[in-house]
Amino acid sequence: MKQTTLWADDYWERFHEVDEARRQQGAVHRETLPDGLRAWIVYGHGAALEALHHPDLLRDADEIQRIMRRHLGPDIPLSGMFAKSAMLSDGADRERLLAPLKAHFGPRLLKRLGPRVEEITARLLDEIDANSGPVDIMREVAFPLPITVLAELLGLPETDRPLVRSWTSALMGHDEKASADAGAALTAYFQDVLAAKRRASGDDLVSTLVQARDAGNLDDTEVMGTLFLLIVAGHETTMNLIGNGTHALLSGGSWARLAKDPRLVDSAVNEILRLDCSVRITPHRYSAAEVTIAGTTIPADEIVLVSLGSANRDPERFGADAHVLDIDRPDASAHLAFGHGARYCLGAPLARIEGAVLFRELTRRWPQAQLAVDRPNQREQAVFMSGWQTMWVRLNP
Ligand code: HEM
Repeated sequence: MKQTTLWADDYWERFHEVDEARRQQGAVHRETLPDGLRAWIVYGHGAALEALHHPDLLRDADEIQRIMRRHLGPDIPLSGMFAKSAMLSDGADRERLLAPLKAHFGPRLLKRLGPRVEEITARLLDEIDANSGPVDIMREVAFPLPITVLAELLGLPETDRPLVRSWTSALMGHDEKASADAGAALTAYFQDVLAAKRRASGDDLVSTLVQARDAGNLDDTEVMGTLFLLIVAGHETTMNLIGNGTHALLSGGSWARLAKDPRLVDSAVNEILRLDCSVRITPHRYSAAEVTIAGTTIPADEIVLVSLGSANRDPERFGADAHVLDIDRPDASAHLAFGHGARYCLGAPLARIEGAVLFRELTRRWPQAQLAVDRPNQREQAVFMSGWQTMWVRLNP
């Protein structure tokens, strides 16, 4: 991996401090990403809000691919992340692609999925052997919980879920060949599921996508892109909320407090999202015209990223203790972990429920839990995400 001044070897273990140092030097910096792409990164809470609401900072898969190829060369392979989906489109296209999702992400979703999240969480925690040494929370809980909930949302049969879990794991992993194989296997699997839902539809999201396809509102590629978007946007993000939250609560001393007073769980989840948000840098936007953010002019046709991690720890917004977990923080909900404005995360209510149910249940069952100091954890080296490779915990020390 190409190293630059920003992404030095020790960057991954202390990126929060590096980002804050950058913010103090100015709100907008031109950085070189590890893959060689030159992009503008916006730091700090006020500047992030300006960028997230700017009418000329847009998202369109074709435009973004064109600009990336201009920077990196015409032949670079672009990952599925840059395929067309609701996430990477604008205007009428975006509304069309979002419509089938919106039908599922309102109060109906929470009513249908809330009780299932409780059951799935209880079942997963029942399976943990807490008495035979440290438990890796990433493996035992953070990975399986969100993918099982997504499978429920999509309406995938229960018996298929272990297979879907293993493909998702490979898809997200660092082995490029295994990731490509898993992507192909998931595509073939989704094609079968779509055919089955066409024969017998239900109350689930895949059935809604089939109906939208048959009504001519989406084509086959867009249906597949939407399914992958949900797995990519909904899985690793929630997984890291669980890992980052476990680390923050245990290292910051708030675990026992939450065990005593579970009513604090919603504000604890908000504060976890603020302190160590899973999406620490937003996916690519491009400047459709020359734009000015916090006094810095960015030319047209450039890639612009927003550091949500820096916004959420901005001492000018959250005070001098912005780098500390405080589950009583009155203004924690001003965080930008789910973005802000028109592109606010669609899955935020679902992620909040998963976090709240899980942390309430973990602290209730194991109020004495501690980080396993003899099993150190390392951060993931991921530009856009903040997360841990493992999270070893002694549940019954
Ligand atoms: C802790 C968990 C999560 C975090 C931190 C998170 C964060 C985000 C962020 C930062 C964005 C982009 C905002 C922007 O670029 O302006 C986003 C968009 C999105 N998220 Fe989430 N997300 C989470 C969970 C989920 C879940 C569970 C789902 C679905 C099951 C989901 C679905 C989406 C979708 C569909 C979009 C695109 C929305 C659009 O373009 O209008 N997310 N999320």
